[in-house]
Amino acid sequence: MAILKVCRMGHPVLRQAAEQVAPEMIDMPEIQSLIDNMIETMDEYDGVGLAAPQVHVALRMAVVRVDREDETPPEALVLINPELQPVGQARETDWEGCLSIPDIRGRVPRWHRISVRALSPEGEPLAFEAEGFVARVIQHEVDHLDGILFLDRMEDLSSLSFKEEYFRFREDGES
Ligand code: NI
Repeated sequence: MAILKVCRMGHPVLRQAAEQVAPEMIDMPEIQSLIDNMIETMDEYDGVGLAAPQVHVALRMAVVRVDREDETPPEALVLINPELQPVGQARETDWEGCLSIPDIRGRVPRWHRISVRALSPEGEPLAFEAEGFVARVIQHEVDHLDGILFLDRMEDLSSLSFKEEYFRFREDGES
């Protein structure tokens, strides 16, 4: 496995729509090792999610791993060709960051609950619902596949903070 270089805001690959992965390609070694390397890269940089365009690959693939506090972290969720729909109308605004926008935090509105369809790393269809932080991370990663960054989703830029100031001045006590 390898730790991949993460591209930063300004790189054009972050602003283009990524392409669907052909289902018959999923079991190819190139795709399987990309999945493994994306997980390793996400973990190396303490991310909770990573989308393929962030490692310079314009394919619709993302990995997500939350609950990092757990002694035995759950397996990373791998989403190939993910699509999501809001479930209900509730939205929540909370802090986000992005490995491609280092050391910046901002408050972003997202759907509270979503339904997700995707293909698994085995090429099997996945369908599930997610809410709260997991749903937030999935929405952030799926946005990457459409060339959207969390800054684009902010409705009020006044919360935008450098990480150091975020830890110093945030009022909600959450990280
Ligand atoms: Ni991101």
